[in-house]
Amino acid sequence: MCAMQRNTTPCYYTDYLQLDKLLDSQHPESSKYGIEAHDEMLFIIVHQAYELWFKQILHEMHSIYGEFNQNQIPEKSMGRIVSRLDRIGAIQKLLIDQIGVLETMTPLDFLDFRDYLVPASGFQSIQFKEIEILLGLKSKFRINFDKDSFYKRLNEKDRTHLMELEEQPSLFDCVEKWLERMPFFEYGDFKFWDSYKQAVDKMLENDRAIIQNNDYLSESDREFQLKDLENTRRSFTALLDEEQYNLLKKEGKFRFSQKALLGAVFINLYRDEPIFQLPFQLLMGLLEIDEHFTTWRYRHVIMVQRMLGSKIGTGGSSGTDYLRQTTENNRFFKDLFSLSTFLLPRSALPELPEPLRKALNFYFHPEE
Ligand code: HEM
Repeated sequence: MCAMQRNTTPCYYTDYLQLDKLLDSQHPESSKYGIEAHDEMLFIIVHQAYELWFKQILHEMHSIYGEFNQNQIPEKSMGRIVSRLDRIGAIQKLLIDQIGVLETMTPLDFLDFRDYLVPASGFQSIQFKEIEILLGLKSKFRINFDKDSFYKRLNEKDRTHLMELEEQPSLFDCVEKWLERMPFFEYGDFKFWDSYKQAVDKMLENDRAIIQNNDYLSESDREFQLKDLENTRRSFTALLDEEQYNLLKKEGKFRFSQKALLGAVFINLYRDEPIFQLPFQLLMGLLEIDEHFTTWRYRHVIMVQRMLGSKIGTGGSSGTDYLRQTTENNRFFKDLFSLSTFLLPRSALPELPEPLRKALNFYFHPEE
């Protein structure tokens, strides 16, 4: 790495930040029609602040994607990926909070300029859609919007750009491949998933005994709990049986391939082992991003309900109905939220053979 050079020209705050351009970019539509609506300035600035943060999120995502989209991810990259995912999460928290600032505008104040904005809409936030697509929300995973897509609301250039992005592997695809490459499942005669199945059977038998011996349960409660236990058993069976898993995947219960989900379960079960600490944090980082996205969607729809009631959106969607559905459906890493189903208490985890345990450790013996 070469030494950093000294600057040769003096740097001036206003020029460096190009404030001339930035601060001359707020032009309320209402002014063009006579009386400037006071709150339109807030509306513009809040949206611009969002777009700036989206730019920063994309900057982080492109670097994460660059490290991830290869056949082998160098261990050295893992810390960087995790800290950049964390940064995206921190920005998202700000974005959620920012909704409170816009909510200081009342619906009546919004009506002073809303009609001037037709047909512009959040649908046309290309950076927002870029983030969604890069994370893995390609068209086939979106909700069916009035049998039409937001793509119809975009100009040719933006539409082509996003459609091209859809052709690339997303971060979801890269993470799936990375999880599928997980070694460690078999070591000599040891087959991890056989031992896991035995541990699960033992745990479920214990649970069954607890339910059957619980004198405080009425017959119907007991029946209910035993039925629930059978459902849990079915989930475990599906995880370990490729055919059953793929059937559930078709129904939309899982999105990761079975191999990838098994990799994620393994990381979660043995996350105390040194080698899995960063992979575990990485999965948590992705889960947090999904959770923050969902929280933002929910906060946005509540704000929209407050501003519009049951009016339709300027982009022509059904407004709150459409947005509420995206909250539930437009998820990226829902599988990571299902992982808890497959966890066992630490005390019930299969004992790993010694050489395998060693492989999961940082191993440094200078005398060898
Ligand atoms: C008064 C405040 C707001 C109202 C009433 C509002 C309303 C709406 C409505 C009705 C939609 C559905 C699409 C349509 O028919 O137009 C929408 C979508 C959207 N809005 Fe807002 N919005 C507001 C503020 C914001 C802010 C501050 C942002 C920040 C960037 C934002 C970003 C978006 C995005 C990205 C979408 C597309 C969501 C998707 O397709 O999943 N909105 N908005």
